[in-house]
Amino acid sequence: MKIPDIVIAVDGYSSTGKSTFAKLVAKEFGFLYLDSGALYRGVTLFALEQGLIEGTDKINTSALIPLLDGIDLRFDAERGTCIGDRCIESEIRTLRVSNSVSPIATIPAVRNFVDSKLHEFGRRGRIIMDGRDIGTTVFPDAELKIFMVADDQVRAQRRFDEMVMKGQSPVFEEVLANLKERDYIDSHRETSPLQRAADAFVMDNSDMNLHEEVVWIRGLIQGKFGILG
Ligand code: DC
Repeated sequence: MKIPDIVIAVDGYSSTGKSTFAKLVAKEFGFLYLDSGALYRGVTLFALEQGLIEGTDKINTSALIPLLDGIDLRFDAERGTCIGDRCIESEIRTLRVSNSVSPIATIPAVRNFVDSKLHEFGRRGRIIMDGRDIGTTVFPDAELKIFMVADDQVRAQRRFDEMVMKGQSPVFEEVLANLKERDYIDSHRETSPLQRAADAFVMDNSDMNLHEEVVWIRGLIQGKFGILG
């Protein structure tokens, strides 16, 4: 199916499978996939390594802000998220980073920094980007917006399995607690809180497999853009 050079915005709660879905759609339709959460995670890793976070959420914001423009965050087609030449793809997925990323993402200067990177990367059409505020703030004119939701226990199990696959030793209750806390912070922050754009289509994938998700979006695209077969 050939689809136009549109921007697809995928937003939703943590561990609803946004990135898996977005990657699959990118492959299916020949789109570029951009993971906005990875940039917030990259800033968080940087702040942790600079000793700018005490505990999980006491951030030395005034020291962090002047350093933001110097963080050479980029996506490498093969290695994923990098700071300069250093690949940080697995480090940004650890619980240490997950525990501090939502507080970092509440800082307006951090959001501006990430948004400008996303606009830079996403200048061309045919992109699918996932996050929390893509359809509302980053690309409010995206031609197709999807808002993903799923049951809490299902989401925690997904995150848990993902961490085990990566050789980590998570505790299920901790993963669930982290997820709920992030949902709360993400949807209650002042700047660009997580919310469904009025024109977003909701996908509840608690009981859907990946094949069903692709069938769902194919149907949506065919209907919305009048494409046959
Ligand atoms: O999708 P993720 O779990 O990798 O995102 C990590 C965090 O980054 C998430 O807790 C909230 C924040 N985030 C955000 O505030 N806005 C986005 N567009 C993407 C992520």
